[in-house]
Amino acid sequence: EKGTYPHYMLKEIDEQPLVIRKIVQAYQNEEGKLTIDYNISEAVSEADRVYIVACGTSYHAGLIGKQFIEKMAKIPVEVHVASEFVYNMPILSEKPLFIFISQSGETADSRAVLVAIKELGYKSLTITNVQGSTLSREADFTMLLHAGPEIAVASTKAYTAQIAVLGILANVVAEFREQQVDFDLVKELGIIATVMEALCDSKEQFEEIAREYLAVTRNCFFIGRSLDYYVGLEGALKLKEISYIQAEGFAGGELKHGTIALIEEGTPIIALSTQNEVNLSIRGNVKEVVARGANPCIITMKGLEEEDDRFVIPEVHELLSPLVSVIPLQLIAYYAALQRECDVDKPRNLAKSVTVE
Ligand code: F6R
Repeated sequence: EKGTYPHYMLKEIDEQPLVIRKIVQAYQNEEGKLTIDYNISEAVSEADRVYIVACGTSYHAGLIGKQFIEKMAKIPVEVHVASEFVYNMPILSEKPLFIFISQSGETADSRAVLVAIKELGYKSLTITNVQGSTLSREADFTMLLHAGPEIAVASTKAYTAQIAVLGILANVVAEFREQQVDFDLVKELGIIATVMEALCDSKEQFEEIAREYLAVTRNCFFIGRSLDYYVGLEGALKLKEISYIQAEGFAGGELKHGTIALIEEGTPIIALSTQNEVNLSIRGNVKEVVARGANPCIITMKGLEEEDDRFVIPEVHELLSPLVSVIPLQLIAYYAALQRECDVDKPRNLAKSVTVE
């Protein structure tokens, strides 16, 4: 039930802090330590390479998951769009482990890959919001998102739940493999939940950004580097699917290789800068597009902020920043769709779960 909320999407955006807290609880043992099924830790730890397979928003969560697993557990990871994987199966490593990420657990493109790799005798883990779903039943292992039902077609709380669960998986596997992780994930996720609340309390500012940048435009670009780039891809998907504004996410460094030709007088550019390592380079990219007339909206993180930035996100652990930096983009997409009188919860041409290939 959406209660007093005008749309499920807004309710689900607001539920994200609670979902993060629920996930931490669900994966904690009596001593408060993060823990997952021993067989999952063992299967992932023994893999010489992890293959993440997913579609849409879940694919975007997979891109972040790759960074978690490589940085914490030190296992190489490839991330694949399910519908492409079936035609061009990569040359697989000797001991691959497959992770399917799917909110619904019913996505046919992902299932086709699961069927194919099962025939080859490989092990699989499904990360899903729906217990007993097809992908959950057919994989060897399941990790649940604990996000509660997601009704709006545009995925929001499932995306952050997927990232959090991938973080927990990477963290537990790192420990299993005796790899040092230099932060306490339980504590950091607690901070994340608090910052998410602060962002959800700043709705007016995102409504204002949507009004100022997106009211009449026909396109919008999201730029970022590293993790911010992946979050930009998700921001662009959210904006296009519910507001019908043509939106694309680009890696900052790629602009000069062609995309910059698209910049015109007034083109809105939403730039994310939450990572110290890439802060100066992405700001350099912003200067390049501003010199061509773009209208920049910089969303940054405390400690990296500069004078003309539009929004400063309170500080969280850098590696976990996608959990919070996506919220401004979700809310900007929501208000842009609302202001343009689009059907937020049921965008045209889209279904909540895509059960055809
Ligand atoms: C976007 C969206 C879709 C889904 C995709 C995969 O907001 O909802 O891109 O993420 O169709 O769906 P699941 O995760 O159910 O496999």
